[in-house]
Amino acid sequence: MNTNKKTMKDVDVKGKKVFVRVDYNVPFDENQNITDDTRMVRTLPTINYLLDNGAAIILACHIGRPSEAREPQFSTKHLVKHLSELLKKEVKWASDCVGPEAEKAAADLKAGEVLLLENLRYHKGEKKNDPEFAKQLASLADLAVDDAFGVAHRAHASNAGIAQYIPTVAGFLMEREINFIGKTLEAPKRPFVGIIGGSKVSSKIGVVSNMIDKVDKLVIGGGMANTFLLALGKSVGDSLVERDKVDLAKEQMAKAKAKGVEIVLPCDVVVTQEFAKDAPYKTVSVDNIEDGWQTMDSGAESVKRYQQAVKGAKTIVWNGPVGVFEFDNFAKGTEGVAKAVAEATDEGAVSIVGGGDSIAALKKTGLDGKISHISTGGGATLEFLEGKDLPGIVAIEDK
Ligand code: 3PG
Repeated sequence: MNTNKKTMKDVDVKGKKVFVRVDYNVPFDENQNITDDTRMVRTLPTINYLLDNGAAIILACHIGRPSEAREPQFSTKHLVKHLSELLKKEVKWASDCVGPEAEKAAADLKAGEVLLLENLRYHKGEKKNDPEFAKQLASLADLAVDDAFGVAHRAHASNAGIAQYIPTVAGFLMEREINFIGKTLEAPKRPFVGIIGGSKVSSKIGVVSNMIDKVDKLVIGGGMANTFLLALGKSVGDSLVERDKVDLAKEQMAKAKAKGVEIVLPCDVVVTQEFAKDAPYKTVSVDNIEDGWQTMDSGAESVKRYQQAVKGAKTIVWNGPVGVFEFDNFAKGTEGVAKAVAEATDEGAVSIVGGGDSIAALKKTGLDGKISHISTGGGATLEFLEGKDLPGIVAIEDK
């Protein structure tokens, strides 16, 4: 994949209507308050550059994975107030991303103004990369700036299809991600340690196989680990697990063994009988997870294993918390990983941490300033690491 891409500096933005694709798929609490705004803050240099250079900005993003119905919790309306505060200016909002209201709002927009469109994924055409939908989005603007690195691994209408209709260049966030991750992973310094956790099990388990080709050690924690524990013949009780991926997990462990790549799994886990923040808990060996109990965090002995694996690493890529860190009682495993990664970085490792949850977990520990690069991408960072072509990057014009 050619990563030498045109940026905003290669085009004239003055007087243009610019469609800026951002990834504001940020975490919210139950009252729709944003709990981590990193993905928003990181786009400010792009937005401010465009404003300072006389453009009118049409921001577009997705939140979550809404179904056919327009589930209100996924509305971009919940971003407007905070975005206005961050930009220190009024952000206009359109209750759809295409159609008459969006068209009028975009047409009326003046240089120096910002309009945020409703969730792109309220339309099926977005995820289907439907050319007609891409054309409608493109018709709102003269130029597209892609700053949505987090969604670069998806071939969607707003970041891939749109480039068929209007010139598409990279924003500063996108440029920085491409340069940092691309350069680090081109020839990673060794030992290279990968850490994979989180709950998006099905989308990440395939990544493990590719990571085995790249890393020297692979720590697998969080929900991911359960499938591997099951593959080792252990009972995982009522834990989050993908039983249909057990054979794949077995294959991956055999592949790692053949390649001399160490797979580091938890040896003890914190378990509860319900998924709740105040649920009574206990720590058990991975050999003793009973029916009716589910894993919520890595235990203290597991954390020691992870820390040992990370010690002395020269390159570290971490994606996904190793426990339900949002609940204080189950955040210790992830805090332990954050500490280990921060220490290794202090000792000279290059560390890349990706994924909304991982960023939120890092911030909670206060160690975010110690990491070499906090990527706004989760799946996107992983696919970049795998060496795959990312459709959102491919679509940007080459230099
Ligand atoms: C992310 O949060 O990783 C991106 O916004 C992509 O979201 P998706 O996995 O729902 O496509």
